[in-house]
Amino acid sequence: MSAIDPAFATFLVGLPKAELHVHIEGTLEPETIFRLAARNGVALAYESVEALRAAYAFTDLQSFLDIYYAGASVLLTAADFADMGRAYLARAAADGVIRAEIFFDPQTHTARGVAMATVIEGLTRALDEARAGGMSCDLILCFLRHLSEEDAFATLRAALPFRDAFIGVGLDSSEVGHPPEKFARVFAEARALGLHVVAHAGEEGPPDYIVQALDLLGAERIDHGVRCLEDADLVARLARERVPLTVCPFSNVKLRVCDRLEDHPLRRMLEAGLAVTINSDDPAYFGGQIGANYVETCAALGLDRAAAARIARTSLEASFVDAATKAGFLARLDAHLAATAGA
Ligand code: HPA
Ligand code: ZN
Repeated sequence: MSAIDPAFATFLVGLPKAELHVHIEGTLEPETIFRLAARNGVALAYESVEALRAAYAFTDLQSFLDIYYAGASVLLTAADFADMGRAYLARAAADGVIRAEIFFDPQTHTARGVAMATVIEGLTRALDEARAGGMSCDLILCFLRHLSEEDAFATLRAALPFRDAFIGVGLDSSEVGHPPEKFARVFAEARALGLHVVAHAGEEGPPDYIVQALDLLGAERIDHGVRCLEDADLVARLARERVPLTVCPFSNVKLRVCDRLEDHPLRRMLEAGLAVTINSDDPAYFGGQIGANYVETCAALGLDRAAAARIARTSLEASFVDAATKAGFLARLDAHLAATAGA
């Protein structure tokens, strides 16, 4: 573990940044899971917060997803979703996040009998409060790729009465064996509705899944994407087309995509000219929020202030906001850099 200069850490946490890859269900802390379980009378397979936390020893993506879906089972009411959203947004603001594009997994909830309206209304309540406090934030609806195309279509249609409550669609859950092409028609419908498109690809799945996400889904950003490095032609394309990659270093270590933070490919990705951003993915499960991801990744990989500022700038540039709003974000970043120069 590299020693971390406290002044550098303060600079990194304070950098105005966008979080573009965070699953709201992955922000549920064990204490909150137990509190909501008690509030809602939901039985948990774990006796205590400590026992649950001890189960967070993942070997791969699926071993995480099994516990992540179990944790989400305590969410029943709009108040639960609002509480979860509020807690995340407060923590994100404290980590310098000025723009958050937040994934939610409606199928995890509708499959348990929770109405789409409950999920979206609860989350929207939290986002509206954060907006009133000056935060820029929006929701992205993710389809669970281990479920069928038909289920994804039904989910999209169930969400249409709330079309204004989310800005895009994404694709998450078990990657290998569930290629993007499985959802090409659903994403075509989403694009026709004017929704933005992102997709998880190249986390555990092969580089070809990244190509499929771009060519068959119309993805504007790739979530994770770290396995692109195995395909030189793809790296050249991603760099040329400036496709943003929402990289999640803590997640990749916890889910054994790479062994140690010191070995994380993010530095090589930057050197290859890729549009790399740093994000937390599922902060309650992977050991830290976006600020800690910036701090420990920069320390482990020897990235300096200029490199970190470039990552934060990329995150703001890659956000789904209008040009004037984006210019305002970039001005805030430049002001921060000017104010901290030489500090
Ligand atoms: N990958 C796929 N699905 C997910 C993830 C992830 O990192 N986090 C939550 N759902
Ligand atoms: Zn993710």
